[in-house]
Amino acid sequence: MKLKRKDVLGLREMERGEIEMVLDSAARFKEILARPVKKVPTLRGRSMITLFYENSTRTRTSFELAAKIMSAEAINIAVAQSSSAKGESLKDTLLTLQALSADCVVIRHPNAGAPHLAARLVDIPIINAGDGFHEHPTQGLLDLLTIREHKSTFEGLNVTIIGDLLHSRVARSAIWGLLKMGANVTLCGPHTLLPPEFAATGARLETNCDAAVEGADVIMMLRLQNERMDGVYLPGVREYSALYGLNARRLAKAKPDAIVMHPGPINRGVEIADDVADDETSRGGRTVILQQVQNGVAVRMTLLYLLLGGSEE
Ligand code: CP
Repeated sequence: MKLKRKDVLGLREMERGEIEMVLDSAARFKEILARPVKKVPTLRGRSMITLFYENSTRTRTSFELAAKIMSAEAINIAVAQSSSAKGESLKDTLLTLQALSADCVVIRHPNAGAPHLAARLVDIPIINAGDGFHEHPTQGLLDLLTIREHKSTFEGLNVTIIGDLLHSRVARSAIWGLLKMGANVTLCGPHTLLPPEFAATGARLETNCDAAVEGADVIMMLRLQNERMDGVYLPGVREYSALYGLNARRLAKAKPDAIVMHPGPINRGVEIADDVADDETSRGGRTVILQQVQNGVAVRMTLLYLLLGGSEE
């Protein structure tokens, strides 16, 4: 089984059938993660290089784990210590990695479109691990897998995404993925962080957080991305938290079986209250943040398998 494409760059260009194939395969790959010995020979002899120009805990680590579980070589380029610090271009870095016989490059870059450029420059598969404000497709896929584990269908599901939509590549991938799967998507945030262009996707825009949460099946909270803010978007963090933070009182307006998601890293006490963040479904609660992290490994195993064409051993 292989994907129809050489690269995974975004959910906007992926067809619903491809997304379903990834989710179905990831559900099967999860079985490997439950074994006492988490190792299969599927990608023996293959190599994956992670090239991250921005910080990461979840995405980079889960790609490395995914490759190692499938017996591939996982090599991380520490960008700050690499020749890019001497002025080497992205193009020359990629051509060098290809010449070193890398089978796949996973790239995170602050500039939107950098993975698309990379995909045109080299013949090996490129996986977008987050490009600027643009897309974070592997996060979108793990979010869809997590929702599918709790809800019987995406059709007609009410998903509310709250927070810093303007700077969120996670939200952009989630919006494309959820709409393709048939969900109703509501986007909520202050005017300054909720670009009106999002209405063209088919999502509903809402600045009143209580109204956005009302009747939701899924609530996805987003981090305030202070590191990407080059101006004043908010009167203050305390006011933002009061108007847009998820606490138990606000969550009570959602459906009784609504789940709470967050891609991480979370700003505790800002977009999500401590008691909501820690109320994991594994202990009978409503929050699936750590399940999202676990599903990230299965989704990334699946993409490596589908792109690198591993053996069926
Ligand atoms: N969700 C996410 O992309 O987290 P990291 O920045 O830690 O990879």
